[in-house]
Amino acid sequence: MPISVAILISGRGSNMKALADYAEKDDVPAKITLVLADKPADGINTAKEMGIPTTVIAADDYGSKTDHEAAVMKAIDESGANVVFLAGYMRLLSGDFCRHYQGCLFNIHPSLLPLHKGLDTHAKVIAAGDKTHGCSVHLVTEAMDDGTVLYQRKIDVLAADTEKTLAARVLEEEHLLYPALLNRLATKLTC
Ligand code: GRF
Repeated sequence: MPISVAILISGRGSNMKALADYAEKDDVPAKITLVLADKPADGINTAKEMGIPTTVIAADDYGSKTDHEAAVMKAIDESGANVVFLAGYMRLLSGDFCRHYQGCLFNIHPSLLPLHKGLDTHAKVIAAGDKTHGCSVHLVTEAMDDGTVLYQRKIDVLAADTEKTLAARVLEEEHLLYPALLNRLATKLTC
């Protein structure tokens, strides 16, 4: 049976598209059941063009984080998803939300965690003088970018690199890393 995946986004959705493109391959037993955004997002249009079910559950429409998360969980669960990929979803999730999808809730982050949690990772790499950089996929907990790191891809930092060049090269690696996780889950699902 294919695994069923919900992808949560807040913006452009390029990682979502990399996952959806990968899931469309004939030999990948995975199906994207829902792309959900917490605000109007370019990635929602991309998902619609690919024929994937979408929904926008705007945080501003709810009186509390608890109510918003309840609506998000309902949409995910009604889609039939058994795994959830955060792909640029810009909200910290509560412990209750993380426990609801325990072991089946993943995030991608543009740094070699535990280095450089949070925003502006490429600038932090340059400021720190790091020689290597990259991206990580990890289990999600309520602490930001803090769960168990599962896989990483690395790049060398070159003397001429800027935030922009690092962002572009790391993003290329992200687009390989998240599908690789999907492949692992699709072929060894324990959720
Ligand atoms: C990616 O760099 C991801 O690692 C981070 O947010 C960015 C989202 O980009 N969490 P996109 O929306 O997938 O293009």
